[in-house]
Amino acid sequence: MVLLAAAAIAARSDGLAPAFTAQQLSQSPVDNWITNGGTLYNDRYSPLKLINASNVAHLKGVWMTQLPGATAAKYSAESQPLEYNGMIYISTGADDVFAVRVDTGKVLWRYQARLDPAISTVCCGWLSRGIALGDGKIFIGQLDGKLVALDQATGKVAWSTQATKWTAGTVITAAPLYIDGLVIAGVAGGEFKARGHLMAFKASTGKEVWRFYTVPGPGQRGFETWPQSGDAWKGGGASIWQTPSADPKLGLLYFSTGNASPDDDGAVRPGANLFSVSIVALDISTGKLRWYYQMVHHDIWDYDAASPTVLFDTTVHGKLLHGIGEAPKTGWLYLLDRATGKPIFPIPERAVPQDPKQITYQTQPFPTLPRALAIQVPTAAQVAAVQKAAGRSVPMAVAKSMYTPYGKTMMVTAPGPAGGTNWPPPSYDPQTHQFYVCGQDGVSGLTTGDVPEPTPNRNGAALHDVGSIWTVGNGFHNPGYLADVDVTTGKVTWQDHFSDSCYSGSIVTGGNLVFVGRNSGDLEAYNAKTGALLWHFQTGAGANDVATVFRHNGKEYLAFFAGGNALAGTAHGDNLWLFSLDGTLGPARPPSAGAALQHAGEGTPVPLAPADATNGATVFMANCSVCHGARGTGGNGGPNLTVLPDAKKMTKVMQQVTNGGGGMPAFQATLTPQQIEDVSAYVVQTINRIK
Ligand code: HEC
Repeated sequence: MVLLAAAAIAARSDGLAPAFTAQQLSQSPVDNWITNGGTLYNDRYSPLKLINASNVAHLKGVWMTQLPGATAAKYSAESQPLEYNGMIYISTGADDVFAVRVDTGKVLWRYQARLDPAISTVCCGWLSRGIALGDGKIFIGQLDGKLVALDQATGKVAWSTQATKWTAGTVITAAPLYIDGLVIAGVAGGEFKARGHLMAFKASTGKEVWRFYTVPGPGQRGFETWPQSGDAWKGGGASIWQTPSADPKLGLLYFSTGNASPDDDGAVRPGANLFSVSIVALDISTGKLRWYYQMVHHDIWDYDAASPTVLFDTTVHGKLLHGIGEAPKTGWLYLLDRATGKPIFPIPERAVPQDPKQITYQTQPFPTLPRALAIQVPTAAQVAAVQKAAGRSVPMAVAKSMYTPYGKTMMVTAPGPAGGTNWPPPSYDPQTHQFYVCGQDGVSGLTTGDVPEPTPNRNGAALHDVGSIWTVGNGFHNPGYLADVDVTTGKVTWQDHFSDSCYSGSIVTGGNLVFVGRNSGDLEAYNAKTGALLWHFQTGAGANDVATVFRHNGKEYLAFFAGGNALAGTAHGDNLWLFSLDGTLGPARPPSAGAALQHAGEGTPVPLAPADATNGATVFMANCSVCHGARGTGGNGGPNLTVLPDAKKMTKVMQQVTNGGGGMPAFQATLTPQQIEDVSAYVVQTINRIK
């Protein structure tokens, strides 16, 4: 019987993807890359070794195909391609999906999501982290809250369901997970006073099967860590930014969660605030909670855990261990036993500095192994950068540890909201037991401000509000690193340091190679054992995505989408590359700062109308709020515009928007002169009225 069941996994006669079994989804990808994380373990490991450390220097482009529609500043390309039977499937920041032939680079079909441009509850760039595949369908979770199934052969909509409502602050950015005939999708929205949740739908019909809220309600386990009166829990955050991993043998799904909401105002939510900044294990079939591990209690520093959980099986101290790893913004790598949720190496709870106003938690967990990968006490250079961004006259204190609370005086904190590992997925080699993490040495100036309560937008959703002001020295332009951790010992095998952030996912192959993208537009290959750089290739746009490796007609290929990034402020583009050892295409020209394919208004000089701050507000929401926050008081990487003297001067603001600098992209190629004038008027006239 067992053998017969295994035989039933046969391929479909139409060549489309079968209803993959958990067993198929657990095998390291060779001919096809069928699930976002490579396998259900999210390990992004390919056993292929035709391309390897000794020949990768010869890797060249086979073709480069442009996937149009998402090159404006608000978009990010963070979608890892899937490949099945000679076809590449990939989504863009506009939630469009493309099917591209491996043989020719020709687009077979394109699905256009036609997102409402008025969607105002996208926190950190318009993006999709990818798609799922199974039973002849492609699944995409959209920023408008829809979960859509497409016919794999045609790209036509098979079904579509309103999984969550963007008007209530929740959007889908993560690639869904196809498993056991279910499609699993998590939502983000912690910046908009939303309540995170993970949902399971029937892959055949789109009917909801179960839903798990990452912030418990009255009567549920964990509710005791929230105020018992009032409704803080209803907007408690704990976003899900990525695709869960799964262990079919244990029947468990694993994911990590983002910050509690409001991000930096602890006063309104006394308690540990479960299950924010946690690793969570749920029963796959019912969505019931099995265990959780909270990495930051009562977070007030925006220490999201946004990168995917990675599963691994190894031997530690002579014992077989089923592990799980998570690399969040704190700059640590947390390694747990995934059956129990207990740390593999000691993670003691230690007393931390207290501030009754923020109702800080008495202790925080401090991992001992591996050591921290990011700087956790600000350096003199970091302090200087924050001082510059905040303005010379702003008084500052420097945090002695990363869990130092802050008040009205600005506290310089590392790694801060921009530091450690953000969404970029790590990778893991099951043969060598090495875990690869990309991150950055971020720094922020944090203050509690007299920020007015969030004003609901037209649709009733609260505007991006973090409950405080934070100012960041260099946005996402911080020194970065790529680190290799041996999970059997907890030791760091090697760590490469870069002058700019590492803001791309990694994959590792049997060819002793780690592939990672860079802000400069270079896709790079490192020797997995030593960390030596072996190959780099200019893709023509910010390389802030994740590569996919597969075999087709006996040859090994690598697919990579270079499209730039809104938060990292890297050059935009729409270049889907295919690489192989017999490719003939050389590198693209390096993109110039702020370059984009979309030259709005180019060649058609229009006389400028008087600056219109109302129109400027729309431009600001689409292009600037991602870094500066919806009201310009600071957000993910951009400083508070209400405290900078130059932000009150029309010519200075226009110069900054036109030319960028200091971690901000130039907008001369992406905005029309009129839009630049309007948005500058909005900054000077409207934003600067906020006290
Ligand atoms: C990718 C993130 C990012 C985006 C998008 C962004 N900014 Fe910035 N912005 C920054 C950073 C980082 C700085 C600090 C630069 C520095 O310290 O030199 C900054 C600085 C500024 C300043 C202050 C300049 C000064 O001299 O004090 C203004 C004004 C400004 N931005 C306006 C805008 C406007 C308007 C937009 C949209 C058209 C925008 N920004 C988009 C990150 C961003």
